[in-house]
Amino acid sequence: MPTLGVNIDHVATVRQARRTDEPDPVWAAVEAQLAGASCITFHLREDRRHIIDRDVPLLKGVVNVKLNMEMAIAPDVVAIAVETRPDQCCLVPEKREEVTTEGGLDVVKMRDKLKGVVSKLRDVGSVCSAFIEPDPAQIEAAAALGFEVVELWTGGYAHAANPEARVIELEKLDRGIAFAEGCGLRVHGGHGLTYRNIGPVAGLSGFEEFNIGHSIMARAMFVGVRTATAEMVALLDQHGSKE
Ligand code: PXP
Repeated sequence: MPTLGVNIDHVATVRQARRTDEPDPVWAAVEAQLAGASCITFHLREDRRHIIDRDVPLLKGVVNVKLNMEMAIAPDVVAIAVETRPDQCCLVPEKREEVTTEGGLDVVKMRDKLKGVVSKLRDVGSVCSAFIEPDPAQIEAAAALGFEVVELWTGGYAHAANPEARVIELEKLDRGIAFAEGCGLRVHGGHGLTYRNIGPVAGLSGFEEFNIGHSIMARAMFVGVRTATAEMVALLDQHGSKE
């Protein structure tokens, strides 16, 4: 049964719109945990546009489910991860001009740069996850680099233009899961998942965790973080593969 990681970055985005102290993403992490989230995910971006350094030790202190830090390989961010020792570090691509993470990390191209970072993070006890597209070459490279988990980019599925394209993307994810498992990797998924599109992807056998941010926080504006999280947990219980 897949579990839910709630990405709290959007709460910090609202706070940073005014550079004030509310709403606090740490409060959101507590609410999400109370509703049954199995993981709290945050992304400390190089430009600190949402999560800021102050949030990181506070999250480490209050999160008693899995803490997942999304990060690029910027040296100052890696240093904070090493000091914080999150349960899991998910390495993602990052571009300053993007609105959100726009696709998977090119593990093949970045092999040399990633190697040292993965071993540093593993040395402090963090599980390393690579956010990649469901492409065999990327999956194979992630396994060879010592990643233990791959988070497959579900954006292709989420943004598919029509039902036929969506089926093709779902099949790509299904093959990606099988290939990753064959390489000895555990498989997570994330990006663009919503209350409306989670069903079919949750039904694929092999996804252990989904990291979801935008849709949960958008709903939380009206029903609160606790209810929004509980509703997504219920959908995973309903549609999640029992295999
Ligand atoms: N997983 C990763 C690695 C991401 O970068 C993001 C976006 O921050 C998410 C999951 C969540 O995506 P969304 O906000 O579209 O649910």
